[in-house]
Amino acid sequence: MDRERELKIIRRAYAKQVTAAAGVGDPQVEAAFAAVAREDFLGPGPWHIVRWGGGYRATPDADPIYLYTDDVIGILPKRNLNNGQPSLHAALIAAAAPQPGEHVLHIGVGYYTAILAELVGATGRVTAIEYDAELAARATANLAQTPHVRVVHGDGTRIAFEPADVIYVNAGATRPADAWLDRLKEGGRLILPLTADAFPNRDVRRGAVFRIERHGPEFLARRISGVAIFPCEGGRDEAGERALGAAFDKGGAERVTRLYLRDDLPEDQCWLRAPGWCLAYR
Ligand SMILES: C[S@@+](CC[C@H](N)C(=O)[O-])C[C@H]1O[C@@H](n2cnc3c(N)ncnc32)[C@H](O)[C@@H]1O
Repeated sequence: MDRERELKIIRRAYAKQVTAAAGVGDPQVEAAFAAVAREDFLGPGPWHIVRWGGGYRATPDADPIYLYTDDVIGILPKRNLNNGQPSLHAALIAAAAPQPGEHVLHIGVGYYTAILAELVGATGRVTAIEYDAELAARATANLAQTPHVRVVHGDGTRIAFEPADVIYVNAGATRPADAWLDRLKEGGRLILPLTADAFPNRDVRRGAVFRIERHGPEFLARRISGVAIFPCEGGRDEAGERALGAAFDKGGAERVTRLYLRDDLPEDQCWLRAPGWCLAYR
């Protein structure tokens, strides 16, 4: 069997395994994971696999087969900047539910940009913003054959973008950027990782990903998952870290149902209260 055919079979098995691990039954998400070559986005091998509890282990050689597991893989290991866990992203992408023809804004680009591009198809588009110049250049080259993806180098909390159906944030913030809420279309979904501690953050008890859905002036909110993730430049502040730290220590994030842009909600209604916004139980 030729190598590309063998890798296609391996990718199909991997896509089944990571979507099953995530409890994702959406065949489109599985097909998108089966379609994209992870090795195209991680630089030349051997690659560095994250060992939870300590450091990285290098793959024995540059055979891409080592990338089709549910492991986190180093992109820039010296900076602890990694390609996130496939089953986590399968769950988050399924929660975002990008549909053919939709516009996705992706903050923190790479492998998952290509998966989002598969899901929206050629009638949709992905605007992918990356803060790191080297990674933005790499993604521009890697995605050059995908014309419905536009890679932009810059700060995704500040760069202007057209209204989006999905905003998929892949870095840990302490608050949503104003533009992410302002530019979310009616019925749009924002996937927002909030982390109490700035990098290094290996503690999933003090980080969570929320799904925010816009309906008119209202924002429905729910916790999807715990998370440990690289920090979001321009998306963090000390007051937010303190507020999130207190909220995670108190517990109850799974009871959050709403995001409000106001300061006057009663204390007992709030899981997280931060200047200008809150996550609330009702
Ligand atoms: C978890 S890492 C890599 C995510 C990537 N999608 C992956 O798993 O392959 C987070 C990425 O977000 C980028 N980032 C952080 N803050 C950003 C911002 N304000 N705008 C755009 N990119 C940002 C970092 O440079 C980094 O590449």
